[in-house]
Amino acid sequence: MSYIHPLKIGNFSAPNNLVLAPMAGITDTPFHILCLKGGAGLVCAEMVSAHALHYGNPKSGRMLTVAEKEHPVSMQIFGADEQTIQEAARQAQAQGADIIDLNAGCPVKKINKAGAGCVLMKDELKLGTRKY
Ligand SMILES: Cc1cc2nc3c(=O)[nH]c(=O)nc-3n(C[C@H](O)[C@H](O)[C@H](O)COP(=O)(O)O)c2cc1C
Repeated sequence: MSYIHPLKIGNFSAPNNLVLAPMAGITDTPFHILCLKGGAGLVCAEMVSAHALHYGNPKSGRMLTVAEKEHPVSMQIFGADEQTIQEAARQAQAQGADIIDLNAGCPVKKINKAGAGCVLMKDELKLGTRKY
């Protein structure tokens, strides 16, 4: 029995379910392209701060850049505030993200102190019904 099968998430579909995990500080565009060439069905870019994008941080802005051969790619945003998360998601969409992923799992203290990452799960109902 094969565990490899096509992937469908909402309107999005990928040829297979081999997904490169998001890894902050580790992956980049050339690595994503190599993984796609090697057979990945989807690559996940590392988390980008909604707050930093809001204040026009150039490094964070560059992290949203998607190369022509880098699809399908999922972009991950982390943030605490609905308005900035929404802005960041729109920027990621405009840059060509195929999926936008909101980080609600990062356990890093610095991120959690800012109200982002896994602390969003403290109020699951709110997280699930917020209009980002
Ligand atoms: C160095 C490093 C950076 C990571 N960065 C992110 C990240 O930016 N966003 C995220 O959702 N998960 C991040 N993760 C978690 C991984 O994507 C993955 O979920 C985790 O390593 C468990 O996968 P595994 O069971 O295949 O090891 C990171 C993990 C590592 C080791």
